[in-house]
Amino acid sequence: MKNPEVVMIGLGYIGLPTAALIAQNKTYVHGVDTNPEVVNIINKGEIHIIEPELDVAVADAVKQGYLIADTKPVPANNYIIVVPTPFKAKNEPDISFVESATNGIIPLLKAGDMYIIESTSPIGTTEKMRDLIYNKRPDLKDKLFISYCPERVLPGNVMYELVNNDRVIGGVDEASTEKAFEFYSKYVKGDLHKTNARTAEMCKLVENSSRDVQIAFANELSLICDKADINVWELINLANKHPRVNILQPGCGVGGHCIAVDPYFIVADYPLESQIIGKAREINNYKSFWCAEKVQTAKLEFQLEHGRKAKIAIMGLAFKPNIDDLRESPAKYIAQKVLQNANNEEYYIVEPNISSHHIFKLTDYKEAVVKADIIVFLVAHDEFKTQVISSDKIVLDFCGINQ
Ligand SMILES: NC(=O)c1ccc[n+]([C@@H]2O[C@H](COP(=O)([O-])OP(=O)(O)OC[C@H]3O[C@@H](n4cnc5c(N)ncnc54)[C@H](O)[C@@H]3O)[C@@H](O)[C@H]2O)c1
Repeated sequence: MKNPEVVMIGLGYIGLPTAALIAQNKTYVHGVDTNPEVVNIINKGEIHIIEPELDVAVADAVKQGYLIADTKPVPANNYIIVVPTPFKAKNEPDISFVESATNGIIPLLKAGDMYIIESTSPIGTTEKMRDLIYNKRPDLKDKLFISYCPERVLPGNVMYELVNNDRVIGGVDEASTEKAFEFYSKYVKGDLHKTNARTAEMCKLVENSSRDVQIAFANELSLICDKADINVWELINLANKHPRVNILQPGCGVGGHCIAVDPYFIVADYPLESQIIGKAREINNYKSFWCAEKVQTAKLEFQLEHGRKAKIAIMGLAFKPNIDDLRESPAKYIAQKVLQNANNEEYYIVEPNISSHHIFKLTDYKEAVVKADIIVFLVAHDEFKTQVISSDKIVLDFCGINQ
């Protein structure tokens, strides 16, 4: 390969599609991942994640020589960091992957290079990395272009959204913002919005926190309605007839690697100020606990009434309908909690979007619905909506399956 223009560090769900997109535009990309298996797969022109259209994009880019993967970075003009930013115990963000990726390229940097973080990051991370770089390379002080540009794609539609979504670009100074703006203009058709690094970091966190807060409101209503003997789905439908009201739907909690995670990045640093954001996390977590308690109560009531142990179907494990992703899934948490409370009842755990699981023994959804006495709907997968449920069954519907 010619000297690469771009070094993309982290070749996962976001980094690999981004690397492929840039390479498809005939820019030489040197992809870096610490996982040698990932590197081998990509260099064969194959992919290690499931994402529509990505296989063709990577196969083309590798075949034409515009994308190569490696475990180590090489010198380039542009470095993009797309490594994980999980949270540690006590819900504190862990930026050690970003630090490690940055440390790996510091010796390679030269004046005029561009450094961009795309990983979801706590406020101030880009400035922290700027200081880390300049402390180790005082010779480069103020000679680099350093920016933050968060990603907001929807898994399953990444190749389209990478090109067409609007992006927010925030540099540590105006020259950095301009340089990153120029770079993304080559690949992105959506509008590019310029700001500073801290605002761009906060913007990503706020987008997901906003969803979390709104879902918490719906979940709180579901708890009140349960006590008040009101159908929450009907209530929300009616309230939303108001021209300026738009309440979201409640569920069994909030999951996934973004909405259930990113608000903690704000709360950890601004605990006193982020009252609603923190409370929303608590409410959404509590909703899952509450669902598990409801199953426990239904099970004991069944036993009292029928003089035998109940058969219980747990319908869905994914964090949202019609996907196979179980990351931070409230349904998975509820299933685990219910099984921890098991006392010789029979359980059917159902997830039609995955074929097997290392913890749960899975049952076919049709079989589970027929065999169970208590059917617990956690995720509104399409398959579940078509099931006819006989009237003698006890149904706990935590996701509005037929709404
Ligand atoms: N997946 C999404 O839908 C999504 C959406 C928006 C933002 N994000 C954010 O983007 C970032 C990346 O997420 P992802 O889903 O692509 O993660 P991922 O886990 O799919 O991929 C990250 C990759 O980085 C590699 N890696 C870890 N440390 C490394 C290092 N020091 N050097 C090189 N490679 C390293 C890992 O081996 C892995 O392959 C995260 O901050 C995430 O919050 C993700």
